[in-house]
Amino acid sequence: MTVVFSDMVGSTALGEKLDPESFLNVMAAYYNAMRHAVEVHGGTVEKFIGDAVMAVFGVPRLHEDDALRALRAALEMQTALARLNDDLRDLGVQLETRTGVNTGEVLAGASSMRDALVLGDAVNTAARLEQAAKPGQVLLGETTYQLVRESVHAEPVEPLSLKGKRGSVPAYRLISIPELQAWVRPEGTPFLSRRLELAFLESVFEAAVADHSCHQITITGSPGVGKTRLAQEFVELARRKANLLFGRCLPYGEGITYWPVIEVLRGALGIADDSLPETIRAAIATLLEGNDASTRIERGIASMFGFSDEAVTAEELQWAVRKLLEAFGRDRPLVVVFEDVHWGEGTFLDLVEHIARWSREVPILMLCIGRPELLERRSGWQLERKRSDALTLEPLSGTAVETLVESLVPGLDEGLRRRIVSAAAGLPLFVHSMVSMLIDQQVLRRQGDAWETVGEVETVIVPPTVQAVLSARLERLNSEERSLIERASLVGEEFTLDDLEVLSPLEEHEELLSIIETLARRDLVRHVPARDEVFRFTHMLIRDIAYREMPKKVRADLHERFARWVDDATTERSHAHDEILGYHLEQAFRLRSELRPGDEGNDALGARAASVLKTAGRRAFARHDASGAVSLLTRTIDLLPSDDRDRLLLQGDLARALMDLGDLDKAASIAKEGLAEARAAGDAAAEHRLVIRQDEITLNVTPATVLRDVLARADEAARYFESTGDTDGLALALFWASGVRFWLGEAEVALEGLERALEHSKGQPSLTAGILTFEAAARIWGPTPAVEIERWAVSVLSVYAGVPIAEAAALTARAYADALRGDASGARQLANRARSIYADMGLPFLLARATSVLSLIDLLAGDLVATERGLRESYDTLRETRETGFLSTVTSILADALCEQDKIDEAEQMARRAIEMSSPDDLDPLTRANGVLAVARARAGDAAGAEALAAEAVESCRSTDLIMILSDALRRQGHVLHASGKHDEAVRALREALALYERKGNVVMAARVRATLGGSGTEASGA
Ligand SMILES: Nc1ncnc2c1ncn2[C@@H]1O[C@H](COP(=O)(O)OP(=O)(O)OP(=O)(O)O)[C@@H](O)[C@H]1O
Ligand SMILES: [Mg+2]
Repeated sequence: MTVVFSDMVGSTALGEKLDPESFLNVMAAYYNAMRHAVEVHGGTVEKFIGDAVMAVFGVPRLHEDDALRALRAALEMQTALARLNDDLRDLGVQLETRTGVNTGEVLAGASSMRDALVLGDAVNTAARLEQAAKPGQVLLGETTYQLVRESVHAEPVEPLSLKGKRGSVPAYRLISIPELQAWVRPEGTPFLSRRLELAFLESVFEAAVADHSCHQITITGSPGVGKTRLAQEFVELARRKANLLFGRCLPYGEGITYWPVIEVLRGALGIADDSLPETIRAAIATLLEGNDASTRIERGIASMFGFSDEAVTAEELQWAVRKLLEAFGRDRPLVVVFEDVHWGEGTFLDLVEHIARWSREVPILMLCIGRPELLERRSGWQLERKRSDALTLEPLSGTAVETLVESLVPGLDEGLRRRIVSAAAGLPLFVHSMVSMLIDQQVLRRQGDAWETVGEVETVIVPPTVQAVLSARLERLNSEERSLIERASLVGEEFTLDDLEVLSPLEEHEELLSIIETLARRDLVRHVPARDEVFRFTHMLIRDIAYREMPKKVRADLHERFARWVDDATTERSHAHDEILGYHLEQAFRLRSELRPGDEGNDALGARAASVLKTAGRRAFARHDASGAVSLLTRTIDLLPSDDRDRLLLQGDLARALMDLGDLDKAASIAKEGLAEARAAGDAAAEHRLVIRQDEITLNVTPATVLRDVLARADEAARYFESTGDTDGLALALFWASGVRFWLGEAEVALEGLERALEHSKGQPSLTAGILTFEAAARIWGPTPAVEIERWAVSVLSVYAGVPIAEAAALTARAYADALRGDASGARQLANRARSIYADMGLPFLLARATSVLSLIDLLAGDLVATERGLRESYDTLRETRETGFLSTVTSILADALCEQDKIDEAEQMARRAIEMSSPDDLDPLTRANGVLAVARARAGDAAGAEALAAEAVESCRSTDLIMILSDALRRQGHVLHASGKHDEAVRALREALALYERKGNVVMAARVRATLGGSGTEASGA
């Protein structure tokens, strides 16, 4: 709904100059003029308040162009006022108006226009805009501007701080409204896909030229799908071979029946729209020179232009127009475009049909463009005739939309791009509006060649233009159709006939299918191919709008009804079942609480919703569906009363799921909150759990965290759970304590602890998978020989078949074992399988770990370029999430890979960075980084410094059983010593490294060291 507020300035002065009666006359004239201006544009004058007029557009009936109509009315009011001012000039008085225009939603459930108006915030803002306008100005609010930005000239003014509104409100000053948009291809915006459609149009044009007759083609498709644009692109091509005529049907107005025809005739006659009758007659005469029927044709055309009083029948008019076009098309082929024919009046459509059917001997392509409702109004529109074709435009493919976004805003961040693409559902209009809206709102900003997002874009908001188009389509439904589509929207994007039967009164069951068919004909819903009685909305936005516009009370009732049915109808409690049931109970509860806060029944409803969602959330968490868990657990926690014991436990799980998804900030704040609550409630079990969750997160974001402290807390938790006999808790604590032990360099002890954790983790699949993931790592880096790793992995794969995370852990371990034995290609394959499991599940950190294993495989195989590429990719992903825990390891491996490639400066830089972000006792990255720094020192000629660093790297892991790290450190030390000329010591270090490589079954590195030793001492390579 768009609201226009217009207030008069100067009426007091006028009142003083005029006697009361004349004053009233002037005011009456003013009111009449205002009312007329509003009504010709399809609005309603809501009321006169003193000198002010308030008008609404879009109530009771909505149009997609209500905002534009409102602005036209506002300008027309000013024109009317100017005329009035002419009459008042002698009195030395001038009237002026200030106008505010604003668009907002009509509140769902408002039973009358008045309700909607009383409730609407939109109205208040319009009034405030009006008060802020200067005399003579029209100010528009943000939404109105977004709706009309393509069609009017307007400029931003200082944002207004309005009474009763927080922050400031953007506003725009209307400058002018151009008559009609030029019908040409927009310059400088890309045109994608549609190659087949263009070729088809061209072929029809060629056919018309070849057989010298009129061919017709009708392009139909949903609003914004790209009909107009396709036609414009075609016309650009045809211009070289044909003359072009263009006429557009208008959605409303006086005398619009033949408007498009008149536009076409003007084009053919080459005359301007304000030409005098004489000019037009002369033009007609010139065109018809030598034509036998010229008098008769001229009579028809003159009547069409309205300057002849002669009564002419509709048939005569049709004939005359056809003859004139044939005359015009004599010398050069003709393309006639009729735009937006779905708005055309019946008589106009008859005329088009007449021309198409009877025109002969002149090559004419008649291109009609319209939305599907054209075919609804005229089901037989031209289609069964010869030389008449239909072209239905389907939405663009996902890839095409993706390319479109990329070319409009290159370099846009991946997440936002994906959301736009999925929300657009193939509608280029959506993409264009969305992008311009985001640019206007300065959410997207240009940075050199790329675009960056400023701040967080949580959801993709539907651009008002798209919303208006879709709402208007729903508005055209009759009440039966409307209520059915609303009920369907309650079910979701996809729904079945059964669902609708549940939601519909018994007496309507017979009709359901036929109503759905009508909706399908209007392209609002579609039958899902190959699935009986399953339908889906053609566009998710249609569902959303239908849902939102349904009154809350109705929604609440239907949700409850649907929930009851879901509950009764299914006996088996699958997770899908609980999610659906929980969702409907939850919605019913929320709506009821909004409608009647404090109502007694609400609590029970909320509790039931919470209990169902809780089960579903726990299940999602257990099967490592992190994003499902986040949504379900968040909603459960929201619904649970604050004294519910489960809340705190769920908060721990939620924190972990958020962390898995890479949302570390939110994870940290949930853990912190939960911990405070647990302490306040004196709930020790929850506290220990939350401490673990918090440490998991902290280790990932705070480099200064000391692992030994974390370990102490984990051990304490294990003791606590042991004493209370809480096996679930014990499993978690053992898992975590062992993981930390492993990082501290006690792989064997960690493995024992993990085995114990595993025994207690039955019934917690996600914990089990986590345990196995740690086990894999401890086996890779610890003393377990490659063959045994392999054996372990094979057994995990068979025992945990079907548990994706467990499988991925085993695949990763096995990949590494294979790589150690020299089978790089097999290893890569396995690692990639693990990666795709993590990627599928949307788990960025685990994915980064698997990717780094892949890089290590490449490193072992000596493919340094691939190593570097892979590591940089992980590096970037992790950086985005602000993770540092694993990033330090990735950075150190990257340093290593750079060092191997002799890019010493860069390697040194990376090594330093790795050290900066490591925990002070995190051996793995520190050792590796120090080794790299040692090489760098050696290169710089600082032999002593290099030796010291290399020795430090070795010493720091000597007391551990992480033999993979130790062996590499020794190898580096060997090279450093060699470079300083200390050959004996170098050989000793290398021998020790060799022994460890052999013990591990690291065939690849053992061979490499052996070669170095073999060529002994003298020419050890820099590798
Ligand atoms: N193939 C395409 N590639 C890129 N942009 C496109 C494409 N098709 C359409 N667009 C753009 O999408 C927007 C909407 O397209 P268009 O105006 O042609 O839709 P329409 O089907 O005519 O809609 P309506 O029924 O409302 O008239 C325009 O900005 C247009 O330039
Ligand atoms: Mg169009």
